[in-house]
Amino acid sequence: MAGISPNGAPKLSVRAVEKTFVNRQGVVSALGPLDFEIREGEFVCVVGPSGCGKTTLLNIVAGLEAPDVGDVIFDGKPVLGPGPDRIVLFQDLGLFPWMTVRRNIEFGLRLAGLGRVERRKRAAHYLRMVHLAGFHTSYIHELSGGMKQRVALARALAMDPVMLLMDEPFAALDAQTRDMLHAELQEIWSGTGKTILFVTHNVREAACLADRVVTMTRRPGRIKREFVVDIPRPRQIEDRDVGGLAARLREDLREEIEAVLLEERRRAKER
Ligand SMILES: Nc1ncnc2c1ncn2[C@@H]1O[C@H](COP(=O)(O)OP(=O)(O)O)[C@@H](O)[C@H]1O
Ligand SMILES: [Mg+2]
Repeated sequence: MAGISPNGAPKLSVRAVEKTFVNRQGVVSALGPLDFEIREGEFVCVVGPSGCGKTTLLNIVAGLEAPDVGDVIFDGKPVLGPGPDRIVLFQDLGLFPWMTVRRNIEFGLRLAGLGRVERRKRAAHYLRMVHLAGFHTSYIHELSGGMKQRVALARALAMDPVMLLMDEPFAALDAQTRDMLHAELQEIWSGTGKTILFVTHNVREAACLADRVVTMTRRPGRIKREFVVDIPRPRQIEDRDVGGLAARLREDLREEIEAVLLEERRRAKER
């Protein structure tokens, strides 16, 4: 069946994962218990109120953070640390402003031991894919927000990961740029068959991009509900069906967001 690995196992399984942090305010239960699975080639969006543990979940899948309880299985093996098969596109991008676009893209490839010719070839290929072909010698600080985002995407794709982990990558962009990147990301996803886990607090964005949307509760974040999305692609954020699903997602999250706002007000009063 499409999307199922040959042995029928999901690409990624998150099983009974829980995470607690200790900070100056005390103990913060950030996540879980939480279970979910992603099939090969699937594009899954996770939406939830701010502070519900989305970034924590992504970091655990990436292997940058270990769960206190539960485990993450990727390709049949437990995740024990970061790996080139799972690349994260961080919210703040993490590009090196003092390097050119091309050197940014080649950076990870160099660490991975790829030779110069292969690095150049890959950088050129992925720059074309994100429509930045002429910009390889530009410096990061010379680029617009949308272009920086494309460089970060090209850099992640150049590592040829099995899975892309995206943490609200378009949150800081203006609406038009975001729309364009939504279109590009859908195109790249259909062209490359990558498995994508994309977290966002934006319900319209989730409805526009995903095969399946998973909503999360407020902290400690758990899975609330799953929505299978069968709206034909390519989709645009203003499509009627996208708007309809976004409204259902918003309704599903309403009580969570209201609870978060009440909690923030209560804490502000206590100060
Ligand atoms: N390294 C950390 N130390 C202490 N608390 C943290 C740490 N990382 C996240 N948290 C807390 O865990 C909760 C979930 O955070 P996060 O995963 O960033 O949420 P989201 O990405 O959904 O906004 C928040 O209350 C946050 O303050
Ligand atoms: Mg976050």
